[in-house]
Amino acid sequence: MKKIIIDCDPGHDDALALIMAVAAPELDILAVTTSAGNQTPDKTLNNAMRMLTLLKQKNIPVAGGNKKPLMQDLIIAENVHGETGLDGAVLPEPDFEPVKIPAIQLIAETLRSSADPVTLVITGPMTNIALFLQVYPQLKTKIEQIVFMGGAINTGNYTPRSEFNIAVDPESAKIVINSGIPLVMAGLDLTHQAQIYQEEIENIRKIHNEVAPSVAGQLDFYGIYYGQDKWRFKGIPLHDPCTIAWLQHPEYFEGTKYHVDVEVTGALTRGETVVDRFDLLNLPKNVYVLTKIQRQKFIYLLTNSIASF
Ligand code: BDR
Ligand code: CA
Repeated sequence: MKKIIIDCDPGHDDALALIMAVAAPELDILAVTTSAGNQTPDKTLNNAMRMLTLLKQKNIPVAGGNKKPLMQDLIIAENVHGETGLDGAVLPEPDFEPVKIPAIQLIAETLRSSADPVTLVITGPMTNIALFLQVYPQLKTKIEQIVFMGGAINTGNYTPRSEFNIAVDPESAKIVINSGIPLVMAGLDLTHQAQIYQEEIENIRKIHNEVAPSVAGQLDFYGIYYGQDKWRFKGIPLHDPCTIAWLQHPEYFEGTKYHVDVEVTGALTRGETVVDRFDLLNLPKNVYVLTKIQRQKFIYLLTNSIASF
């Protein structure tokens, strides 16, 4: 089993990533840490705890992360995920406590005590991981790879050129993307293909367990934002679970290695992941950028994950 740590900001699609990761026979979740992003840090931490309570996973250590991005004020996505960060969800209150150490310390202790290298999965802003790399550089070698949802090749969803997770904390993203650790990027070019259609949500609603109605309720709410005409989507893009699906079934995906960096100063482009598609800079190809996903297989995997509880 591949050992993973998930750093997330639940968030509806983060919650789906947690569900898939818990259900995945290929993955062993060593720890969950939370970042400030989709909602305030207290709410994303509480949401991770509520999700793990629903999934009966109180043995997974959970720690809250930094309260704000490295350099700028926190931006939240209440317009997408609602006042709680997981509006629409039927969820129990947490039945366990987070560990009493900060996220970066939990990551450090987890890496130290793992005999095997560990994959970091990031589905929110990269603040915690950037801080971790600054404080514990000696533990970098214990990280096998970082698989993250963020960025895009040439589009945006927060500004025309920036994706939300990178836009919230561009400086942290720059640190992580230039860390030298092998990176896999599930950006918007990919995740906008990973749409769930209404009839597929109805199939989930029909599953008889405690998890399915919660997911269906979450998708009903999350779908309101992505149902706006401006997006021109047929379904709802499920960004964050693409990271977990890739770890489980890389054969469902296509991708290419490119040199990627993060723009932190541009007046119009701050937070853009600049992808050197034509190798114009002749710099090391530091990121495996996922470009295609087999949508139906992905939705089948997600639905089966939900049904497995
Ligand atoms: C990303 O931003 C958040 O709203 C989602 O949870 C996802 O991680 C998509 O841009
Ligand atoms: Ca997220």
